[in-house]
Amino acid sequence: MDKFDLIVIGGGPGGYLAAERAGHAGKKVLLFEKRSLGGVCLNEGCIPSKALLNSAKHYEHALHSDVFGVSCQNVTIDQKAVVARKAKVVKTLVSGVRSKMRANGVKVVMEEAAIKGKDANGFLVEAAGVTYAADNLIIATGSSNVVPPLPGLRENLGGFVLTNREILDLQEIPGKLVVIGGGVIGLEMACYYAAVGAKVTVVEMLDHIAGATDREISTMLQKDLEKKGITFMLGHKVEGVEPGKVLVCAPDGSKLSVEADKVLLSIGRRANCAGIGLENIGVEFDRGITTDTLCRTNVPGVYAIGDVNGHHMLAHTAYREAEVAISNLLGKQDMVRYHANPSVIYTQPELGSVGKTEEECQAKGIDYEVQKLPMVYSGRFVAENEGADGLCKVLVDKKKRNILGVHLIGSYAGEIIWGAAQMIEMQLRVTDARQIIFPHPTVSEIIRETLWEFPD
Ligand code: NAI
Repeated sequence: MDKFDLIVIGGGPGGYLAAERAGHAGKKVLLFEKRSLGGVCLNEGCIPSKALLNSAKHYEHALHSDVFGVSCQNVTIDQKAVVARKAKVVKTLVSGVRSKMRANGVKVVMEEAAIKGKDANGFLVEAAGVTYAADNLIIATGSSNVVPPLPGLRENLGGFVLTNREILDLQEIPGKLVVIGGGVIGLEMACYYAAVGAKVTVVEMLDHIAGATDREISTMLQKDLEKKGITFMLGHKVEGVEPGKVLVCAPDGSKLSVEADKVLLSIGRRANCAGIGLENIGVEFDRGITTDTLCRTNVPGVYAIGDVNGHHMLAHTAYREAEVAISNLLGKQDMVRYHANPSVIYTQPELGSVGKTEEECQAKGIDYEVQKLPMVYSGRFVAENEGADGLCKVLVDKKKRNILGVHLIGSYAGEIIWGAAQMIEMQLRVTDARQIIFPHPTVSEIIRETLWEFPD
């Protein structure tokens, strides 16, 4: 039987990075992936959606270039070409992951694997009828779309009803697209399809979009997207689909139907805990595999990282968890600190947030102070945007004066936010953070300007 130091199940951002780091450290590593290296992020999530959104950005720039002194005629978008470029991007990056595995001596087996038990050889994992053993296991099996048992949903899945997988491969722009769920996936895809000409309606059962995002920021985003032609039906719950329509329950209990050529189902994701044999070695799980801040499960030698532990379903969280799991496996001290974990929504305008929101501070009874500035206080923002608005919001602990949260809406928000995450991670107070020199002119300076709004 082939014996390894580490077996990693799942080749998404968490799994492949863990394998790479362990291989780099000289460990004998085996990585299983049943679909495609790179997982959801690279193949049907983060990366392909950014390729599409970037095409929409070029299209919109070309359509509205006159204000910048550039004239473009006969501007069109070719959906097939957009999707073909997206496929090329994905292929390049997947092959990059493959090269990294090779460079770090990781053995990759493209099969579905399941844990069979444990004996004197270590943890036993089976794939395609072959059993492998390892001293340590990392479970990085990710998450799947939630498909609720609503009438018509399952029957139409992959055809009339699409998930994040199929929506990225549509060869034609639908006339009417109904998006179920105004969360991250729903908003990004609504933004793309509205930009390229679809009539988009987002049905969201809560009274706001963008989940736990700071409410003032998500309201600004909603207004911006409405200006771009997206219709929001807030407080409306989807109850089923029928050919050509989505059945909805309004806040007053009345029943409506919304016409659709295609439907995107984006109401959240669920950790992939089933079918991997967790019960064969006694790994505890509920909505996700139970882990601590060292990414350890209840079984010594077994770690769970990424979406499958259900902490934060974000690729960058998975990366950090991969590093922490490997550090611990190598006997080094390391832990994940989830409080300074940034999140980005790649809509146009873009959102970047980290730390506590006002709503969270209020719910937890935290005594906070807030300052905000419109993005137009940034010279670069004004130079590069016409008629756009945006906001920077900074929350500070009233007594300790350390930064609790930073929330941005506007260009480059996703690229800037890591700096704010660092301020929170380093527990900087307003006076400390003010000493940081920001490059000029950049949109990032808006954070510095907002910090100076606080009293000394
Ligand atoms: P989500 O949890 O972000 O949003 C789902 C939304 O659907 C919620 O607002 C919920 O209230 C609503 N909903 C649920 N049932 C409904 C019903 N019957 N009718 C109407 N509305 C309903 O989930 P989403 O957008 O599917 O994203 C899944 C995961 O992927 C998230 O954890 C997200 O963090 C991750 N992701 C992250 C991205 C990023 O970082 N930029 C991009 C895309 C996904």
